[in-house]
Amino acid sequence: MIQRAAARALDRFGHRALQYGNVAGPGPLLEWLTARIGHQEGRAPEPDELLITGGISAGLDLLLTTHTQPGDTVLVESPTYHLAVRILQDHRLNLVAVPVDGQGLDVENLARVVSDLQRDGAPPRALYTVPTFNNPTGVCLISQRRRGLLELAAEQQILVIEDDVYRELGYDAPSPPPLWSEDRHGSVVRLGSFSKSLAPGLRLGWMTARAEVVGRLVQSGVLDSSGGVNHFTAVAVFQVCESGDYDAHVRRLRQAYRVRRDALLLGLRDRLPEGCEFEAPGGGYFVWLRLPSGLDGEALLSHAEASGTSYIPGARFHLGPFERERIRLAFSLHSPARLEEAAERLGEAIRSFQRGSSPQPPAGG
Ligand SMILES: Cc1ncc(COP(=O)(O)O)c(C=O)c1O
Repeated sequence: MIQRAAARALDRFGHRALQYGNVAGPGPLLEWLTARIGHQEGRAPEPDELLITGGISAGLDLLLTTHTQPGDTVLVESPTYHLAVRILQDHRLNLVAVPVDGQGLDVENLARVVSDLQRDGAPPRALYTVPTFNNPTGVCLISQRRRGLLELAAEQQILVIEDDVYRELGYDAPSPPPLWSEDRHGSVVRLGSFSKSLAPGLRLGWMTARAEVVGRLVQSGVLDSSGGVNHFTAVAVFQVCESGDYDAHVRRLRQAYRVRRDALLLGLRDRLPEGCEFEAPGGGYFVWLRLPSGLDGEALLSHAEASGTSYIPGARFHLGPFERERIRLAFSLHSPARLEEAAERLGEAIRSFQRGSSPQPPAGG
């Protein structure tokens, strides 16, 4: 699909596909995205509200470069995507954790944290959040809290950085609209990506935000010097999108990941010992599992790996206090049969760890 698209991009745009591109991104891709976002999310960005980025990681980095100073206070939901924390730390920000629960970010608690910070003379500049199919929890922020968050952000002038990477991967129902499309005050910067819906190696994504925010990025030194981000990739991806291949591919992904999710859930329900708890995620890549009380996910890891399965301990996703019983399981990579087997091995690993006996290496490796 990508090979065809790259060849078509060269046929159609000739040497222009290999030149420095328009700073905001190639016009045809911007137009396609505008129409799709308008159709799917109920609000289309204006031309000066949309920018092509090198994916969420690069978009976040550039946003922080243009909109924060070292020492600024930035709120981060906890648990959160651990590698976004690395990017935030690169900018030497003052990171403050805000707890989440089974319905996403706890907005009442957030309001208290904001007023405490104001009282202490460190009002938050921004909030980083993954409100749709969160990594690691899989949770979608409920709509009442979405409204509360937008009101608070407008009132307190907090820039909400919405990481929307799993938007296309809803398995049971259409994904909730992004915070960005419901925001009437220009508080939200939404970061989208082709990483999970096409391929991470493309390094391509987009940003929707108010014109003044996008304008500052467009005028940044790096885009002034480099032109549009990953221009050739962007024109090739436009071919994938325009031909209908993108939509067909996303439909296939949803179908395949739904089957994988269900296989893992079935395995977990059948094979885990008493005391393990988890919710079925409606989308994304992850199951956020609670181990039996007192069992430390970090301590169990090498035992689980010796039993032929693996995960990321929950502690690694937290900035603040955390439950050591939490672990993150990913169902995106493996076949349904392997996922069921992985659940069985995890169940065995937990049991043997609890008994204090050695891990049971899998037959055949
Ligand atoms: C929540 C979240 N945001 C961002 C990324 C990375 O996005 P990108 O490849 O567009 O930089 C990931 C990848 O795992 C992720 O889980």
